[in-house]
Amino acid sequence: MAKIRVGVVGCGAIGSEICRAIDRDEVNGRELDLGMELKFLIDKHPEKIERLCKRLRKKPSIIKSDSTELDIILEEVDLIIECASQAAVREFVIPALKRGKEVMILSVGALLCEPGLFEEIESISKEKGCKVYVPSGAVAGIDGLKSGAIGGIQSVELTTRKPPSGFEGNEYVKERGIDLFSIKKKEMLFMGSAKDAERLFPENVNVAASLSIAGIGSEATKVKIVADPSAEENVHEIVVKGEFGKLFVRVENVPSIANPKTSYLAALSAIATLKSISYSIRVGT
Ligand SMILES: NC(=O)c1ccc[n+]([C@@H]2O[C@H](COP(=O)([O-])OP(=O)(O)OC[C@H]3O[C@@H](n4cnc5c(N)ncnc54)[C@H](O)[C@@H]3O)[C@@H](O)[C@H]2O)c1
Repeated sequence: MAKIRVGVVGCGAIGSEICRAIDRDEVNGRELDLGMELKFLIDKHPEKIERLCKRLRKKPSIIKSDSTELDIILEEVDLIIECASQAAVREFVIPALKRGKEVMILSVGALLCEPGLFEEIESISKEKGCKVYVPSGAVAGIDGLKSGAIGGIQSVELTTRKPPSGFEGNEYVKERGIDLFSIKKKEMLFMGSAKDAERLFPENVNVAASLSIAGIGSEATKVKIVADPSAEENVHEIVVKGEFGKLFVRVENVPSIANPKTSYLAALSAIATLKSISYSIRVGT
């Protein structure tokens, strides 16, 4: 069978894990059997591509730092993976869909933060008959949430707990005059809708966006953000109540070595999505 040809935009923490998985067809010694090949890499920082290429067995033939000649290189691939930034979603995903290519989006926050983008992507993918894959990212429980949403859901609540240092540089925390280093016990920094959380805590945007899209939207999805000096990892707890009953999921995320703001699980979820694309039996919703 012909290999699925892949282009990757963004060679940072997630992109590097994805590329190495495709290149070696394994992760941590576990075989994947993806049947994929890397055709192009794009990153606005060429040194990131260079660093990654040194760790690949087969270097892709097309290397670029921007979207010039995108129409030409899109002809070389079947699937493009965006793992760069919110801005990259419009810049690369829309042209790829217009060319009838399948896409995977990691910067899922863009689908809620940029008005009209979700609808535009939905309409082009429908017209062109191509799939848009949004991996679960740094959370679990999206399968149960999707199933529950079919029968009706009353509430979705996300609580994110991080060590206080994880909120350094956050404008909302600064404006409220919170001294992160004097926090000695759990302190709630925010409680409100996912829509407001996206604006005030952009570093949490992807998790809130995935849950909102899979469930009941960003206004109805509730978010609590807690600075917790006893937390060593970023912890996400999700509670969903619906006609099916109640779901509770807790994820204690190990940060990625290359980018401590990104959870290792996010990269693994993208690779697991690649596996489900290439494997004939699909387990899980
Ligand atoms: N879905 C989730 O749960 C989840 C979890 C973590 C991260 N993310 C998102 O995935 C994306 C990648 O995360 P990461 O940790 O790998 O980030 P990273 O900063 O380690 O890497 C991103 C790379 O993309 C490049 N880049 C950014 N914008 C670009 C553009 N317009 N054109 C070309 N290259 C560009 C950067 O130079 C960088 O090398 C981010 O948007 C992040 O918010 C999603």
